[in-house]
Amino acid sequence: MKISSTGGGLGAEVQNIDLRDLNEAAFGAIHQAWLDHLVLLFRGQQLTDSALIAFSRRFGELDLAPVQETGRRFVEGVPELYVVSNVLKDGEPIGSLGAGEAVWHTDMSYLPRPPKASMLYALEIPPVGGDTEFINMYAIYDALPDPLKRRLAGLRIKHDGTYNSGGYIRQGVTPTDDPRESPGAYHPLVCTHPETGRQMLYLGRRRNAYIEGLDVAASEALLDALWAYAERSEFTWRNRWRVGDLVLWDNRCTMHRRDAFDPASRRIMHRTQIKGSAMPAA
Ligand code: OGA
Ligand code: MN
Repeated sequence: MKISSTGGGLGAEVQNIDLRDLNEAAFGAIHQAWLDHLVLLFRGQQLTDSALIAFSRRFGELDLAPVQETGRRFVEGVPELYVVSNVLKDGEPIGSLGAGEAVWHTDMSYLPRPPKASMLYALEIPPVGGDTEFINMYAIYDALPDPLKRRLAGLRIKHDGTYNSGGYIRQGVTPTDDPRESPGAYHPLVCTHPETGRQMLYLGRRRNAYIEGLDVAASEALLDALWAYAERSEFTWRNRWRVGDLVLWDNRCTMHRRDAFDPASRRIMHRTQIKGSAMPAA
């Protein structure tokens, strides 16, 4: 097994490994590399859904996938599996997020205990577009000016549960654009990573976010100031997908987004998400 940094703001590629066949020592090295590099890329994998789930379970118990935009759970009988796809079957999408841009976010942070990790496996990929980009939220926190860091101490942020990253309304939610009223969970704005002990900015997503205790205008202004730091390209890395890629990310100290692609082409990805704990304040 060979682990090489991407040379970007985060991430490493792990080569010479078959994820269907990992001994304890190899898994231990992958686990440590995941904590050190935040995002890992494994190319050329051949994973059935059950092999994807078996590898995922080595990190811990899995979270059930969010309900898809059609209100159904996919795949029948495999509630841990989330399908990201624009492909239609009998006129209905087989998965979520369509073919548009998916904006910066972290997965399922509208829950009190967001997943600690997600992994995404590429089954079909369009010839162009649909890259996924990741950003390092330890580095973003470190780069904030000290007066701004001091302002954040002790604050909590609400992560909205109304919209997913493709802008689709989640099943069963009555949409509101008042961030104080919308469903979601509060988390510390600056968190300590439960495994590395490092501090990070925990933003989740921009839409309908709200900083507890502030009036909406002040909350919006502070969020805009933070997001101005949170899209800095020196802290990012993007994957141009190939079929057989598996990307595993630490869902606590990273965010991700996806480029749009031609809706006439096909993209099919299968995702799992590993249960996490409440996010500890810094
Ligand atoms: C996800 C996600 C983006 C993509 O699966 O959580 O945001 O590239 N996917 O499909
Ligand atoms: Mn996501």
